Amino acid sequence: MEPAANQDSAQLEAAQDPLALFDDWFALAKTTELNDPNAMSLATCTPDGTPSVRIVLMKGRDPRGFSFVTNGQSRKGGELHANPRAALCFHWKSLQRQVRVEGTVTELPPAEVDAYFHRRHRMSQIGAWASQQSRPLATRDDLIALTRQYEAEFPGEIPRPPYWTGFVLAPQRIELWQERDFRLHDRFVFTANGEGSWTKQRLFP
Ligand SMILES: Cc1cc2nc3c(=O)[nH]c(=O)nc-3n(C[C@H](O)[C@H](O)[C@H](O)COP(=O)(O)O)c2cc1C
Repeated sequence: MEPAANQDSAQLEAAQDPLALFDDWFALAKTTELNDPNAMSLATCTPDGTPSVRIVLMKGRDPRGFSFVTNGQSRKGGELHANPRAALCFHWKSLQRQVRVEGTVTELPPAEVDAYFHRRHRMSQIGAWASQQSRPLATRDDLIALTRQYEAEFPGEIPRPPYWTGFVLAPQRIELWQERDFRLHDRFVFTANGEGSWTKQRLFP
């Protein structure tokens, strides 16, 4: 039997709106991926050009772009504050598809981050207080002790830590890639022209 991805090239070839196609691919990935279809690699870069990459979870995709939440004082947070250009990469193994997104990030409005923080499990909220993400930690016991300390400090509603934040990446370039037989893959890159229109270009695989 043909791999499923090989049967969907017509949709990719016809697409004019990469975001609508992303939404279709993501909806399908939610039904086919083993876990975390919203996992995406997030690449950031220091102002002097040193890159770093890690996985984060996409929390939303709306007209502003692709959003995620994190600790603003982490390595990625520091890099994004110093240089707000970033890139994302989704890989849906079950569909043999890759989506690459590049653009500029801005912080999400505080009220939106608050709302998201308060929807999290109580222990995840405690964890956000306890974790000084990306900084040295001597032992796991130290981390557990910090969670106990914050559980005692916040017996009721837990406020959002001031450094816990969210970012949205506004896409300026989106590439959709679909595996085909013999590595003759389909690649289309879409470049934003402003106000929702895109220039589409097929690339050699
Ligand atoms: C599947 C998966 C999902 C993750 N989601 C997030 C996330 O949404 N936000 C986050 O800050 N870190 C997330 N992480 C952890 C990051 O990959 C990373 O270890 C952490 O954010 C520190 O990165 P930094 O030191 O580059 O800032 C996730 C890791 C994995 C494997």
